[in-house]
Amino acid sequence: MKVFITRVIPEAGLQLLRDAGITITQWEEPRELTSAELIEHCRNADALLTAGRSTIDAAFLEACSHLKVVSLFSVGYDNVAIATATKLKIPVGHTPDVLSKATADVAFLLMQTTARKAFYHHQRILDGEWDFFEPKAGLGIDLQNKTLGVFGLGKIGFEMAKSCKGAFEMDILYHNRSTNAEAEEKLGARKVSFDELLAQSDVISVHANLSKETKELFNKATFAKMKPNAIFVNTARGGIHNEADLLAALQQKTIWGAGLDVTNPEPMDPENALLRLPNVCVLPHIGSSTEGTRDQMAILAAKNVIAGLRNEKLPKVVNP
Ligand code: DGY
Repeated sequence: MKVFITRVIPEAGLQLLRDAGITITQWEEPRELTSAELIEHCRNADALLTAGRSTIDAAFLEACSHLKVVSLFSVGYDNVAIATATKLKIPVGHTPDVLSKATADVAFLLMQTTARKAFYHHQRILDGEWDFFEPKAGLGIDLQNKTLGVFGLGKIGFEMAKSCKGAFEMDILYHNRSTNAEAEEKLGARKVSFDELLAQSDVISVHANLSKETKELFNKATFAKMKPNAIFVNTARGGIHNEADLLAALQQKTIWGAGLDVTNPEPMDPENALLRLPNVCVLPHIGSSTEGTRDQMAILAAKNVIAGLRNEKLPKVVNP
């Protein structure tokens, strides 16, 4: 059996595949594969393990319908035509849970770096502008006892809420389709309507999937419903916010600041004006990038491949 892997992944996952007798081909060039290259490489493979931004659309799946499994090196699966995979009986695996804490830690980090204008002050030092003490310059805002609004309270949102509660005794609001009983019981979280979340939160942290319903949900109209002192944090998918509207909301002081680990589009243009605003901190989609987490993701992605090739249920499957 053969697997094609679209990136060099941690050894922990490769070893499991080798131990299962699977032949591995990895794409080692430092660029995305084109759609044609991806199809070409998958023609001779029984499984695809994909990391990065490759689009696994209907055309790809139909051209490679012989694949016995598609294994994603991510929790998100918005890049995959799931309905087509299901129709073609190709199971799609992903890597939830193992990256929840690392990703939530980046949301927590961005909330704090934004609130204290950390990247702006770092840049001042680089620019030789650290001269004398100015009591009223470059001030941040306090987070103690403020209100966190979690948009999409699943495993990652829960970890973010827990950190905010523990570190800053923040009140937790959330907006979800379902009720999160654990968050309500352990963190005193309160489920509210989307409009209430916008109106009452001092920090809004996005932890939802990108879907038709969430695409650019954070836009001119919704930023206008947020508090002028609010910080918008997005570590989920850049497509959930409209970036031009976010820039305008920050420039016009409709909201106070933004911390982004995901941008719309990715990669972000280095000339993007957001990068020059003092109340904005942007990271290049590093939510899950710790050594331990990436090892766990590689192991889970490999287990999904192995199960798929053995016609067994994948440990973490997206489509039934
Ligand atoms: C995920 O796991 O979905 C990360 O955002 C990487 O894409």
